[in-house]
Amino acid sequence: MILVTGGAGFIGSNFVLQWCAHNDEPVVNLDALTYAGNLTNLSALEGNDKHRFIKGNICDEALLASLFAEHRPRAVVHFAAESHVDRSITGPEAFVETNVVGTFRLLEAARAHWNGLQGAEKESFRFLHVSTDEVYGTLGLNDPAFTETTSYAPNSPYSASKAASDHLVRSYFHTYGMPVLTTNCSNNYGPFHFPEKLIPLMIVNALAGKSLPVYGDGQQIRDWLYVEDHCSGIRRVLEAGTFGETYNVGGWNEKANIDIVRTVCTLLDEMAPSADRMVVNEQTGKPVEHYAELITYVTDRPGHDRRYAIDARKIERELGWKPAETFETGIRKTVAWYLANQEWVKGVMDGSYRDWMAQQYENIRA
Ligand code: NAD
Ligand code: TYD
Repeated sequence: MILVTGGAGFIGSNFVLQWCAHNDEPVVNLDALTYAGNLTNLSALEGNDKHRFIKGNICDEALLASLFAEHRPRAVVHFAAESHVDRSITGPEAFVETNVVGTFRLLEAARAHWNGLQGAEKESFRFLHVSTDEVYGTLGLNDPAFTETTSYAPNSPYSASKAASDHLVRSYFHTYGMPVLTTNCSNNYGPFHFPEKLIPLMIVNALAGKSLPVYGDGQQIRDWLYVEDHCSGIRRVLEAGTFGETYNVGGWNEKANIDIVRTVCTLLDEMAPSADRMVVNEQTGKPVEHYAELITYVTDRPGHDRRYAIDARKIERELGWKPAETFETGIRKTVAWYLANQEWVKGVMDGSYRDWMAQQYENIRA
């Protein structure tokens, strides 16, 4: 079996669903179910004995030791992390705890397990660490895209904590010879994306007649990848990646934030017209004609990286992977998924989420 951490979050749950659809090998899914973890993401696997969920923290040494001893995973795919840049600005400690200490504990447990393996079992073991392009810092408009040899220059507590975890993973290859793989991926979007992140937040707010907060001038650029493409890239690296190597995963879709928000509004105008839903602008009390009316420029995020861009040629050249979705097909699927899954949205907008949003709006209101 494989051990997945963070498999109840956005990318992890998409990965577990995809894995169970394509592989016979069972998954043990370890997730602490923080605000970002949601078991309903995995409801399609109810009764499927290929999936076993365990609620627990990757910082818990004793739990990790017993999990490795009981399940003897032949691979670890490590997603569990604190993942939201804005939260890392208001509360960085949890990022150090989970992303740095948690990754360290997981590496140590995996190392003890791997040391005890022999022969074919030892040969087939691998540890795949899922990381981000944000570790490379920010690009100017005309700079070449990030490659696997771009220097690390993280600018937020989130990216700094992910960079630290990447370095630990790297060191376990060089020091102990552990069979590790690292992927550095660009911004994902798609089903089960928690509505604190740009795309789902815009969809959810627009349908509720709330303002669509665009940070700064909205000209920051991100490189967007449909989540299922990220998951297929991870499966490919797990299958054929070279130990100790890192692979950049990206969608070749650089877009300015304001263009993303306008695209979401245009799709909602087409697929869920505001007149049909009688959407009222929360600020003015007037009916909304077009969702783009709700766009509001707000104070910029501190330390906001201007541009990310991934050069994904290595994974294509060496492992034959490239994304299946274009941005146009992926964003249409995503908007359709949110429209069809309003109950899921309601379910994740619990009290703690609303408290966070209230605090965040206090911080960033123009
Ligand atoms: P997410 O916040 O949606 O999910 C994180 C999951 O980890 C949640 O289910 C949460 O409950 C769990 N978790 C958090 N702390 C834990 C702990 N201490 N022990 C066990 N479980 C814990 O995040 P995501 O967007 O799915 O990101 C998954 C991974 O991919 C992260 O490592 C992130 O850095 C990386 N990544 C994300 C993106 C993106 O665009 N979302 C892009 C590149 C890389
Ligand atoms: P986000 O989804 O938080 O991902 P990341 O910070 O990891 O790239 O944000 C994507 C971009 O959108 C980022 O440049 C910040 C911007 N943004 C807004 O303009 N408004 C928002 O309300 C949010 C959440 C993000």
